[in-house]
Amino acid sequence: MDEEKKGIGTRFQDETKYLRDGMKVYSSDVFERAEQYKHYPDATKVLPLPPVRPEGQAGFWDTIINRRSQRDFTKEPLALDELALLIFATQGITEKWGDTMFRAAPSAGALYPIETYIHANRVTGLDCGIYHLNTARQALEFIRPGDCSPSLAIAALGQDMVRDSAAVFLWTAIPGRSTWKYHERAYRYIYLDAGHIGQNLCLAATALGLGCCTIGAFFDTEVNEIIGIDGQNETAVYLGVIGTVQE
Ligand SMILES: Cc1cc2nc3c(=O)[nH]c(=O)nc-3n(C[C@H](O)[C@H](O)[C@H](O)COP(=O)(O)O)c2cc1C
Repeated sequence: MDEEKKGIGTRFQDETKYLRDGMKVYSSDVFERAEQYKHYPDATKVLPLPPVRPEGQAGFWDTIINRRSQRDFTKEPLALDELALLIFATQGITEKWGDTMFRAAPSAGALYPIETYIHANRVTGLDCGIYHLNTARQALEFIRPGDCSPSLAIAALGQDMVRDSAAVFLWTAIPGRSTWKYHERAYRYIYLDAGHIGQNLCLAATALGLGCCTIGAFFDTEVNEIIGIDGQNETAVYLGVIGTVQE
């Protein structure tokens, strides 16, 4: 293809290829390493997640077969135990090895560039608003009280399921956790990581008899502003909505 006609997607693909005879060399000061764990010291509340009991859920293959994106939800609230299981499926700590906390979803180099925020629209026992998942503590930090679901729905190109769902997962990326090691290729891995997490949410929701849809269509800056992140050091990459589906 004519070099000048290449869009950013094609250039991204080309410039992040590993090539046997031409690996790009970066000087060590180009990419600074970001903190591995984020927490909000000013959170108004910190709620440890209840212990999860994943036994007795649907069979694996039935879950694979039955998963379907769901976009119409009832007004039924999500139980906190259900939310804890969904969080466990996406970012639960399944093994510790030295300083590394391995999670339920794989991550390139075990660097875990994805952060999780949850907008609780209707979760039993949780005030409406935005929570940050403190992954190391498996606790929810309440960072923004109030119902942001209408503005989140507008930010998601007016997709009503964001407003009508019981909870919205908001996944952001902190590229500096991965770029220090993988340089520009890290951006491929970041989106692959987010995909794994999203799929685990879909499957866990299906196993629990809940509906889920992941969302890539949103105005980035609007979602970033609602969460309160700068869009550079940390930026929204993917959303997922959860709710009960009418029988
Ligand atoms: C990366 C990604 C982004 C998506 N974004 C949206 C979205 O913004 N809105 C939506 O309604 N569905 C979205 N979906 C869901 C797809 O439309 C859905 O997966 C597809 O229609 C196949 O249907 P199924 O999930 O039921 O198998 C997205 C799915 C993926 C994987």
